[in-house]
Amino acid sequence: MPQHPPEPFRIKIVEPIRLPSPEERRAAIAAAGYNVFTLKAQDIFIDLLTDSGTGAMSQNQWAAMMLGDESYAGARSYLRLKAAVEDIFGFKHFFPTHQGRAAENILAAALVKPGNSIPSNMHFDTTDANIRARGGRPVNLVIDEASDPQNPHPFKGNLDIAKLNAFIQKVGVANIPFGMITVTNNAGGGQPVSMENIRAVAETYHAHGIPFYIDAARYAENAYFIKLREPGYADKTPQEIARQMFSYADGFCMSAKKDAIVNIGGLLATNEDGVAERLRNELILREGFVSYGGLAGRDLDAMAVGLYEGLDEAYLAYRLGQTAYLAACLKDLGVPMIEPPGGHAIYLDAGAILPHIPHAQFPGQSLTVELYQQGGIRGCEIGSVMFAHPDPDTGEMMYPHLELVRLAIPRRVYTQSHFDYVAETIANITQQAHTLRGYRFTYAPDLLRHFTARFEPIP
Ligand code: F0G
Repeated sequence: MPQHPPEPFRIKIVEPIRLPSPEERRAAIAAAGYNVFTLKAQDIFIDLLTDSGTGAMSQNQWAAMMLGDESYAGARSYLRLKAAVEDIFGFKHFFPTHQGRAAENILAAALVKPGNSIPSNMHFDTTDANIRARGGRPVNLVIDEASDPQNPHPFKGNLDIAKLNAFIQKVGVANIPFGMITVTNNAGGGQPVSMENIRAVAETYHAHGIPFYIDAARYAENAYFIKLREPGYADKTPQEIARQMFSYADGFCMSAKKDAIVNIGGLLATNEDGVAERLRNELILREGFVSYGGLAGRDLDAMAVGLYEGLDEAYLAYRLGQTAYLAACLKDLGVPMIEPPGGHAIYLDAGAILPHIPHAQFPGQSLTVELYQQGGIRGCEIGSVMFAHPDPDTGEMMYPHLELVRLAIPRRVYTQSHFDYVAETIANITQQAHTLRGYRFTYAPDLLRHFTARFEPIP
């Protein structure tokens, strides 16, 4: 049995879950048009759709919420969050937002002009969409190792510096208002970025006078990967490592629904005074006053406490250990997935599990439906349903390189026995993989179609 550090907490409040009968599951998924986004949460046994906003808050976070100061301006809750953000991240200006994409929207509104390009290792889909919404072009320059599921590179989230230099030469500094990096790289398998790479990325941007912003949704998990894998960091605390990561950046945007372990919240910060002024005005217009940014005072308090809990070393050892445990169970059973596993999720290689189902018949969707039908487990297709699109010039359908199913792990929510159950269910599915069939759309919108599409099995 693989090693897995025990939970550094015990359970005080429980939320009952129930496995519906096989007949109920078949009826529920058919009624949902074979799309797990349409299922009712009450019909799900183990929900691995996302690790965002789905974590369990601690007794200290709930206690802090009772101290929430709901004053419109200058609330105590804001000052407590401000102290935590300054201590951990160390930027001159910071703003709370209601979640990560709100911070991205404000950053893009303030800085992106039509025709601009924003490089990154890989943009998450909301960041990508917020840049496009302002007429900009998001550009992904991750290292080539990221697209090989079996490549054991310890920092598969790294940005390729040679590609970045070539890209800056090609489009010109004037067309790049800022550059980014996403830690960990969610769109590329939750893979970490090394400190050496963050520093090199910052140096490259700064050598051209380009400001550098971090998409920091899973920065604490990234810091712990650096501690485990990068020489010279074994004796540093995750907070010290995080501080160093952010010392290279001019600002960051962040969904606090991940590593700050809150159900709602986000952050935006910068060292640039002129930019801060634009962000402030945009924030007041779209989110709320600068001392609450679309959140209740109690949410700010939960975030202030959660930021420290997300950096706690025992917590991070358990957290990454849990993901590694599920990956090790699946590896023992011969299940193909992205390796090494990322921080917050396992990415099953549906294309390799179901080689008889072509891209056009959505192997990831077939596996996602089967996970629900066999085990009441909800994962998320990250393949042709999400990303296939016709080439604008030729009209030919372009398919993504990999057909994946993401099993994202909510923080402090499921136990080792839940993961044993998940691994057993997947093992059963892979044994009958040849009997699974493809799917086709009965309805699909033009954009972000995975959320609302409906399907039918192909007979
Ligand atoms: N950046 C990254 C890297 C993310 O993973 C997410 C959200 C966001 C930004 C946007 O944050 O949801 O608070 O607006 N990722 C979630 C997920 C939705 O399931 O991976 P948000």
